[in-house]
Amino acid sequence: MRNMKWLLLVTVVILVIALSACGGGNNNNGTNGGTDNGTNNGTNNGTNNGATNGGNNAGGGAVDAAAAEAIYKQNCIGCHAVDLSGGVGPNLQKVGANLSVDEIKATITNGRGGMPAYKDQLSSADIDSLSNWLASMK
Ligand code: HEC
Repeated sequence: MRNMKWLLLVTVVILVIALSACGGGNNNNGTNGGTDNGTNNGTNNGTNNGATNGGNNAGGGAVDAAAAEAIYKQNCIGCHAVDLSGGVGPNLQKVGANLSVDEIKATITNGRGGMPAYKDQLSSADIDSLSNWLASMK
């Protein structure tokens, strides 16, 4: 009986040492992963934003799809989805076949039903750009 107890004790001590060794290893991995991810994300975001702003500045008048899409993504995708397929708001993929530029402009400017008004949030140039772009969706 005495021998059995001694054996048990030794087994427990070995287990504890093995477990604490494993724990130390995991902690080191966690720290390295965190640092690397942070650096990569920061660099990528900065580059992408610069490219988007460049596009907006280049846009002069007519239909600047890139600029209009950027405004759309910042304001409209919550209700109309990234691909214009709709959600809370209706599908806009063929909105140009149903509404004129002026009707689209009026809807964005003044709102309608569940659609909020954007006259205080977007410049009239931004609303023009969005309206022309949406009117080309047929
Ligand atoms: C809070 C949700 C919401 C947001 C954000 C939103 N809309 Fe809407 N939108 C709606 C709803 C709801 C309607 C339907 C209005 C109605 O006729 O009752 C609508 C209707 C429209 C229509 C008319 C579609 C049709 O077939 O009659 C257009 C165009 C439109 N939205 C464009 C936009 C644009 C562009 C933006 C971003 C600047 C935007 N919406 C942001 C909810 C939203």
